[in-house]
Amino acid sequence: MIRDILLMGDPRLMRIAQPVIAFDTPDLRTLLQDMRDTMRALGGVGIAAPQIGVSLRIVIFGMDRSERYPDAPPVPYTEIVNPLITPLDAMTEETWEGCLSLPALRGVVPRFARIRYEGYDLAGNRIERLAEGFHARVVQHECDHLDGVLYPMRMRDMSRFGYESALFSETVD
Ligand code: NI
Repeated sequence: MIRDILLMGDPRLMRIAQPVIAFDTPDLRTLLQDMRDTMRALGGVGIAAPQIGVSLRIVIFGMDRSERYPDAPPVPYTEIVNPLITPLDAMTEETWEGCLSLPALRGVVPRFARIRYEGYDLAGNRIERLAEGFHARVVQHECDHLDGVLYPMRMRDMSRFGYESALFSETVD
């Protein structure tokens, strides 16, 4: 089922989400289905459970090709429960990012360039991966939602924040 996305300003987006304790339950399967349906309906690259009002530590992400990020390389479709991120080094990269909870807006956000991330799949099997670049950025963005962090809270230069239609307009007037 496609669910409503909470928008920035909603206090439910600011909470620290709770770890999942019971795996492979009907409730968890339904929640994941709703997250998939909602992400696909909105053309998102990822979604976190708190964005549909469920305060649990679950994120999904992935895409072959995104209209929202036409130049980005593919990211493997992943569902991850209780994720943990470890940066591999201090190197960061800055580029444009958006979020379904801030429709039509974009901002330049610093993220770690190379990370390890780990967690569990729906059945409780362990997942561990290395990621870099856009893949690493998506994981960091989605996991931030689990700690009540939205991307503008990570930005260093608010002059590089605005409406996509204005920022990337071809028109010069
Ligand atoms: Ni987001």
